[in-house]
Amino acid sequence: MELYLDSANTEEIQKVSRLQFLDGITTNPSIIAKQSESFETKIKQIGRLIDGKVWCQVTGENAEEMYHQAIEMSGWTKDTVIKIPMNFEGLVAAGELVKKNIEVNFTLVYSLSQVILAAKANVAYISPYVGRTDNYSLDGKRFIKEAKSVFQNLNSSTKIIGASIKSPQTVVDLVHAGADAVTMSYDVLNKMFQSPLTDMGLDQFNEDWQNYIQNK
Ligand code: E4P
Repeated sequence: MELYLDSANTEEIQKVSRLQFLDGITTNPSIIAKQSESFETKIKQIGRLIDGKVWCQVTGENAEEMYHQAIEMSGWTKDTVIKIPMNFEGLVAAGELVKKNIEVNFTLVYSLSQVILAAKANVAYISPYVGRTDNYSLDGKRFIKEAKSVFQNLNSSTKIIGASIKSPQTVVDLVHAGADAVTMSYDVLNKMFQSPLTDMGLDQFNEDWQNYIQNK
């Protein structure tokens, strides 16, 4: 399973880059808009901070604009994944990019018919937005399970990255549902390893150890 941080914040990226197992950084226009640097400067900076994939999204309004942006962006880091919106223009642009062996991700995927088109377009990834799905009382986890079964039925190698994750339990649920990858905020990533039982156990070990070395 691949694991990504959903952020463009330098401090956060620097911190998590110490985790050698992280597969990279995902961004989107809203995440980039929170930063002071230009888009290109920011993405290049992220590429220097981490060893892994850097995901960046095209903002063009038609297939030609998306294609040209994607070609430019793919040179910004060593390993760029191009995020393309799941719509007609995005499908056209993706077709051209896949032919050029560029890794494409269809973003904002919410229906199984979109999943079928992604498989036909032979893109590398799709991003179902699980948290945003759940916000409308639709079942994000179930959607991932069904998307996985569509890909299996079609013998597709397209991977599913669970996005818009709001809690560690959602990560667990998505792994059970068959997600190939997950991306999460710094906040959710930090909650992944936290447990008061771990802290209590460690406090007890430390106390016993201090007593032991003092009485030796
Ligand atoms: C990741 O690639 C997505 O852009 C991200 O997870 C969006 O999630 P949000 O609902 O937190 O904005």
